Amino acid sequence: MEKQREKFSSRLGFILISAGCAIGLGNVWRFPYITGKYGGAAFVLIYLLFLVIMGIPIMVAEFAVGRASQTSAVLSYRKLEPKGTKWHLHGYVCVAGNYLLMMFYTTIGGWMLSYVFKMMRGEFVGLDTDGVSAVFSDMLAKPLPMIFWMVVVIVLCFLICSLGLQKGVERITKWMMSCLFLILIILCVRSLTLPGAAEGLKFYLMPDFKKMAENGIGEAIFAAMGQSFFTLSIGIGAMSIFGSYIDKNRTLTGETLSICALDTTVALLSGLIIFPACFSFGVDPGEGPGLVFVTLPNIFNQMAGGRIFGTLFFIFMFFAAISTVIAVFENIISFSIDLFGVSRKKAVAVNLVLMILLSLPCVLGFNVWSGFQPLGEGTTIQDLEDFIVSNNLLPLGSLVFLLFCTSKKGWGWKNFIAEADAGKGIKFPKWARVYVTYILPVIVLFIFVMGYYQKFFAA
Ligand code: PHE
Repeated sequence: MEKQREKFSSRLGFILISAGCAIGLGNVWRFPYITGKYGGAAFVLIYLLFLVIMGIPIMVAEFAVGRASQTSAVLSYRKLEPKGTKWHLHGYVCVAGNYLLMMFYTTIGGWMLSYVFKMMRGEFVGLDTDGVSAVFSDMLAKPLPMIFWMVVVIVLCFLICSLGLQKGVERITKWMMSCLFLILIILCVRSLTLPGAAEGLKFYLMPDFKKMAENGIGEAIFAAMGQSFFTLSIGIGAMSIFGSYIDKNRTLTGETLSICALDTTVALLSGLIIFPACFSFGVDPGEGPGLVFVTLPNIFNQMAGGRIFGTLFFIFMFFAAISTVIAVFENIISFSIDLFGVSRKKAVAVNLVLMILLSLPCVLGFNVWSGFQPLGEGTTIQDLEDFIVSNNLLPLGSLVFLLFCTSKKGWGWKNFIAEADAGKGIKFPKWARVYVTYILPVIVLFIFVMGYYQKFFAA
């Protein structure tokens, strides 16, 4: 007899966990540094546009597949696909995508945690901007402490998952997300009142397309698409699992809109904290992945009660990160349960060890293996893992979800729309059928090909 699957205890639980999965390093770490790299406001505009025209319909598609199949992405396709088709192969790509994402995500989560303690101990007090940067590069140079923090993150998150969906994942995430919103607002106010904040605001809010074009317009648009998919967690079935934990009381479009709104708010607020501070302290916003780690300690140094605020800030950055890690681990655990029929406890134990091993290359890429620069000078294994996930698996996977939901050879429009519109709330607009069936897939594919061309072949 099939065991009853556990469900979320409330609608709020579902929204906050899906938002918790979406809100993460993508918002507080990746969004600011990618925006910095591609020149600020013009990039933000394109990113916002993509969230609306691509992100929302694709998220609805993922939730629909999850809710209709009542299982994780690896088996969803098998349940819903017409006999004899091969859609389910994408289920395995989704599994790989979730692992690959965590292979670098846990390391950055570890950085956040280690910064909590650095802040608490007052390690930044009295340092100038260069001194603060040096703390970051010292951290990257030492593999053992980085491994330690990465392992702490992995163990903690699996522990929470092992408590179960309602008692672990739902309870802890709800609490963390609420704290996160509060502290973000406090920090925004502080950053905006710094001397020189206006310059930062200009960079962040006044589009300059010339600046964006410096790396090639095609590459910038490609990066904006990658960022929109990354921040919404779409394309590797990470969201579809949460669709499988809810009932049919509410339409999926309505729920998706709430989740996207929460996610976008947090990303935009993070930018409002970081860019004014960058300009106020003379940190280059194009600094790259270290941006958050070399800017924020500077703000706290200058501010009354900075040590306490700084500690709190990194705690909440850490919350954003681990709410995502918990959500993706929940996926990874259900993949094992669905594929091998093992218990939750056993799935946790095996994946805990596996995850630690898989996360090692990212850590070592910053020091022992730093000679390996896969995407050009100065790049690391982390950049490669991020590139594979964000610029390949997410857009291509999103494309598969879209085609599956709209094509007669897949699950098909009728089934999709019936699932998406079941319940109270906003319905998926009927006029959008032609758009999501014929136009959107072409846009995604076009940007993908163009981005690749500019990144690798254009001089
Ligand atoms: N959306 C998450 C973040 O912003 C990252 C993520 C991507 C999670 C893809 C799951 C799947 O940090």
